[in-house]
Amino acid sequence: MIDRLEVLDIRKQYNSRFELACSFDATKGAVYTIAGPNGSGKSTLLRILSLIEPPDSGKVIYYNDGASMLNPYKNIVIRRKVVLVPTRAGLFNETVFNNVAYGLKLRRTINSVIGDRVMEALKEVGLAGKEYRNALELSSGEAQRLALARALVIDPDILFLDEPTASLDPDNTRVIEDIISEWRRKTNKIIVIVTHNLHQAKALSDIVIFMYKGKIIESSSVDSFFKKPSTKLAQKFICGEVY
Ligand SMILES: Nc1ncnc2c1ncn2[C@@H]1O[C@H](COP(=O)(O)OP(=O)(O)OP(=O)(O)O)[C@@H](O)[C@H]1O
Ligand SMILES: [Mg+2]
Repeated sequence: MIDRLEVLDIRKQYNSRFELACSFDATKGAVYTIAGPNGSGKSTLLRILSLIEPPDSGKVIYYNDGASMLNPYKNIVIRRKVVLVPTRAGLFNETVFNNVAYGLKLRRTINSVIGDRVMEALKEVGLAGKEYRNALELSSGEAQRLALARALVIDPDILFLDEPTASLDPDNTRVIEDIISEWRRKTNKIIVIVTHNLHQAKALSDIVIFMYKGKIIESSSVDSFFKKPSTKLAQKFICGEVY
């Protein structure tokens, strides 16, 4: 099982105006939230951590049962246990069931197991009974729950969520937060969430990472981040003065 993720001095440059440059460490049993203004590099960092995109330089190290894997991008065993739920879910024009089954089929799970696992995941997110609906006909709250079911059905060792409640109303936001909390309680695995919602960061996370212009400016326990952030920028961000 993946029990730790470490990135050392990674850099990623898209253009002359933006460069991601940071280090990061996540250990099993904790929830991390990444906050920061638009364009600060949160999604870029998440794509690198979740092995979707490699950095230009630096190291991404996954630890599997304590043993370090230096090039996780090339390690299919690791890649299969890492899931990123992007902000826009990208659901397929298929049934809810098929959307959830897709990741299991990719991982060559046998058919007799797929049915049970899909139904269990749909139950976890409160979509049981909707398995034969077309995914594109779901409300945005349901679609986001489906995106979560697609991720959870894989039984990932690390779950990355990019703004999982963006554009949802308070009720649907709470449903998603409850699903995340419950999964955390049950599995104790690593969860990394990008969010603009500071209440969510407070409610769900153990560690808050604050990013600004491609850098991690602060990484603190949730209590100290919200009581007394150590940087002026983070203080201003909490007060809504930096967007
Ligand atoms: N694939 C890409 N190609 C070119 N530039 C990119 C790409 N992805 C991100 N960028 C640029 O990198 C910078 C950081 O973007 P990123 O999406 O990581 O920020 P973010 O913190 O997630 O912002 P937001 O809160 O708006 O989602 C931005 O200037 C963005 O335009
Ligand atoms: Mg983003």
